[in-house]
Amino acid sequence: MTTVDLPLLPLGRGTDRGSERGVECPGDLPPASDPDLVARARAAKAALGDRVFVLGHHYQRDEVIEFADVTGDSFKLAREAAARPDAEYVVFCGVHFMAESADILTSPDQQVVLPDLAAGCSMADMARLPQVEAAWEALAAAGVQDAVVPVTYMNSSADIKAFCGRNGGVVCTSSNAEVALEWAFDQKAHLEGGGKILFLPDQHLGRNTAVLQLGVALEECVVWNPHRADGGLTAQQLRDARVILWKGHCSVHGRFSLDVVEELRATIPDVQVLVHPECRHEVVLAADLVGSTEFIIATVEAAPPGSRWAIGTELNLVQRLARAHPEQQITFLDKDVCYCSTMNRIDLPHFVWAMESLVDGVVVNRIEVDDQSQAEALVALERMLALPGRTGRD
Ligand code: 13P
Ligand code: SF4
Repeated sequence: MTTVDLPLLPLGRGTDRGSERGVECPGDLPPASDPDLVARARAAKAALGDRVFVLGHHYQRDEVIEFADVTGDSFKLAREAAARPDAEYVVFCGVHFMAESADILTSPDQQVVLPDLAAGCSMADMARLPQVEAAWEALAAAGVQDAVVPVTYMNSSADIKAFCGRNGGVVCTSSNAEVALEWAFDQKAHLEGGGKILFLPDQHLGRNTAVLQLGVALEECVVWNPHRADGGLTAQQLRDARVILWKGHCSVHGRFSLDVVEELRATIPDVQVLVHPECRHEVVLAADLVGSTEFIIATVEAAPPGSRWAIGTELNLVQRLARAHPEQQITFLDKDVCYCSTMNRIDLPHFVWAMESLVDGVVVNRIEVDDQSQAEALVALERMLALPGRTGRD
């Protein structure tokens, strides 16, 4: 039985920098009502052949996912982008930071296209480079900067990844955060008292990983608020902390609550709660399983018929899983519709517009990271790709 059957709401504008860009498409954006959109997308893709490689994040709409050569979580998509040196164009159906990472990981003669420049990420926008540099200075003033390794979640801008690259740090995704944090602690293991981590920009992924997977005490995690003087922390608090969490969060995953977990446990016998690690700590604590989008899919795919799930991640993915697995009972872990509005910016009209422009020899919405950020961010991304173990599905 499938229980995900929520109404489609009109999509609002996101709050992130991407949507603030307010970018209008030059040229002809086909109307959503055009009955030929699917045929046009197919024709453009066929005309481009191997010259184009289309990547689709799991949160994309079905109408777009249909055209992806590969679907995946942000880790898998970064690896796939790096593994396609022959594709002239990489069309990234996802959000801005993912397209930036693809640009960094591909060669200079490959061009990365984001079909709608307004597809940003509100979490990524919660850490700006000047704010991070101010925090770094505060760590120096507290006498602990040398003990700190910066770790940034993939959901961050290229200049933040570059900051981590030039300061001995690493990028992580939701599928390898545990090994990335272990790696970061190892870098400073020789210091008395061990090292510290500055985790950007998602406090929840940082806390959930440090506390639940690495056994760091909750009291050893402090939260740096970039909107308060000195992050709202004393020098002594910085000295005592093992993990300094940036005060950022995902507005989509922040909606899942303990109340709904408890309500569903009381109403659906044997339900298993499966959530993304961007959810708040108390929700992750109350869940049965936690992992990246790729992990969530693999878990449901491997489950026996009759399994019951309450899933806490973006709704496009949960709905797709529910349709693909009618033999299981899949319930969304929120009472309301909960799409990522910026992921949803990539729709069929934008996809068709971007692809047909490429057929006409015009590269629209190219994502290009400047050379210096590119070189420094690549260091942090390559450190991540070299981490042992995690493939994104385990
Ligand atoms: P994944 O790394 O699990 O794909 O998640 C990316 C993301 O933006 C989740 O909100
Ligand atoms: Fe960013 Fe959250 Fe959307 Fe993921 S779901 S892209 S973290 S706003």
